[in-house]
Order: sequence, then structure tokens, then C-alpha cells
Amino acid sequence: MTVAAQPSNPLSEGVAFIDGHYVPLGEARIPITDRGFVRSDATYDVVHVWKGRFFRLDDYVDRFYASMAGLRMTLPCSREDLIEILHQCVRRSGLQDAYVQMTCTRGVPPRGSRDPRLCQNRLYVFAQPFVWIANDEQRRDGLSLIIATPERIPPESVDPRIKNFHWLDLTMGIFEAYDRDAVVAVLPDRDGNITEGAGFNLFAVKNGRLLTPDRGVFEGMTRRTVIELAAELQLPVEVRPIATSELRDADEIFLTSTAGGIMPVTVLDGRSLGDGRPGPQSRRLHDLYWQRHEEGWLATPVNYGA
Ligand SMILES: Cc1ncc(COP(=O)(O)O)c(C=O)c1O
Repeated sequence: MTVAAQPSNPLSEGVAFIDGHYVPLGEARIPITDRGFVRSDATYDVVHVWKGRFFRLDDYVDRFYASMAGLRMTLPCSREDLIEILHQCVRRSGLQDAYVQMTCTRGVPPRGSRDPRLCQNRLYVFAQPFVWIANDEQRRDGLSLIIATPERIPPESVDPRIKNFHWLDLTMGIFEAYDRDAVVAVLPDRDGNITEGAGFNLFAVKNGRLLTPDRGVFEGMTRRTVIELAAELQLPVEVRPIATSELRDADEIFLTSTAGGIMPVTVLDGRSLGDGRPGPQSRRLHDLYWQRHEEGWLATPVNYGA
């Protein structure tokens, strides 16, 4: 009989903070009546750790606070406590490259009540191994993207700048992508402009200029980082509506996400873009993004303890 090797740290699959305790990720449970679960009444954020360092930790935490303010939520602990919990989850997992999620839910209402003001908001945090939206081959050779049929929820209904669990439109987009032999989907809005996809923002490159949608999207940290890096590379950026027709006419397309950085697209709706390989600007930005990580740019070392 072969016995599978035991990982040296059983928490290396992930650690969660829940109800004041740290538990193995697979054992973390939330109360089933938490409105975060039954009503998608929650907000969250995801920061990553690369080679033992958080990237833009304060910026991610600021954004989490802005989302909570937008939903009239208050954390049951201080900002310092939150940051300590983020460190602790990574520290206990021992992970050097991690995906770290902080979630604030509305909480459990008093029995019979539908009044969100009566809920005590709850905090859940977890760290797990770094998540990649695209695998190694897809990041090297490029992704196949579709413009999906479902429209993104209008920003007048659910503000996409508040990171939220309203993903059913995005999820149906993923199904459509698989049905059409692609791997990722971007959703249009009701005016025929493109928005975003499941966990990523989108950039098009046309005549050396970067274009990214200005509305109906989450203001991704990687999107922001790309805009900053583009300034360094003296690449002009236009943040404005992008018609689906304009996307089809792009020289290059790439996606941005905390879960994977900058990911080139080489096929749109079944047709190759350009020469079918990741474009030069996408590659430059990709390389600079990871080079900056290596250099420790905007990094906070994880407190791994002694
Ligand atoms: C809907 C949506 N858009 C865009 C993004 C990209 O944001 P970031 O670069 O901060 O990960 C995410 C990240 O999860 C997302 O959920």
C-alpha cells in the first residue's frame, strides 16, 4: 500500500479566520442564515502575497473599507486588527504565494427580522495558495475570449465599484465561453459597450494607446497598477466607454486581475487577434508588473514570526 506523503504543514492548503478562531480552510463554516449567504449581502476584497510579501496591502484594505462604507457596514474590529488577521492567516499557512480574501457580511438578523440595520456585521478572512485565472500555457500563449450574451448588471442597480457577490451574469458568461470553445467571457452593457468578466478587468490596445472601460466595472487594483505602469512606459491610457465593435478592432487585448496579474488574449469570438500571439504592449506590461513584484515595489513583508 502506498501512503500519500503528508504535507509538512497541514494548514498549507489554507487558513481561515472565523468567529475569532483560526481554522483549516476546509473546516471553515459560516452560519447558514448569514445574509451574506442567503442574500448576497456582503462585500469582500482580495489581496495577494507574492514571495512572502503583500502587494499594495494598504490600497486593498482602503478599498475594502470604501466598499463597506458603500453598503453601510462596519467591521467588528479595528483596521489594525484586520491587518493582523490578514498576516496571521498567511503566517499560519506558511504560504509564500497566497490569495487572501477578506469578507464582511451583513450577518445574522434577529429571528423574524428583515431589517439590515439590526444585523451585527461579520468578518471572515482566509488565505489559500495563490489563484491563477489562467494557467501557465494560457498566460504564455494567450486566452480565448468571447463577448458574452448576458448584459452586466447595470451600475445604477448594483454599484460594481463595491466588490460584491452578484456574479450570476458573470457565471452565465463563463458557461457561454465554454460552450463556444473559449475560456473567458467579457460582458457588454445595455449600450453595447464592454464592461468586465468574472474576476477581471479588460484593456484593449489600439495604435499604441491603452483603452479600458470607465463605467460599469470594478476599479480593479491590477487595472490601477497597469495605468500607473503605463505612465512609466509612456503609453497613453484612455479610460472611457469601449464599444464592442472597437474591441473587435483592437490590436491587442489583455485582462487584469489580482488572481494572475496581466493575461494576454489572442482569440476574440473565435477569431485570432493580430498574428495570434500575445501583443508587444501586453508583454511589456506583464513583464514590468512581475519585475516590480520581484523588486518589492509597494510591498509589505508578511509577518511570519520567528
Ligand atoms: C468583477 C471584477 N472585476 C474586476 C476584478 C479585478 O480586480 P483586481 O485587479 O483588484 O483583482 C475583479 C477581481 O476579483 C472582479 O471581481
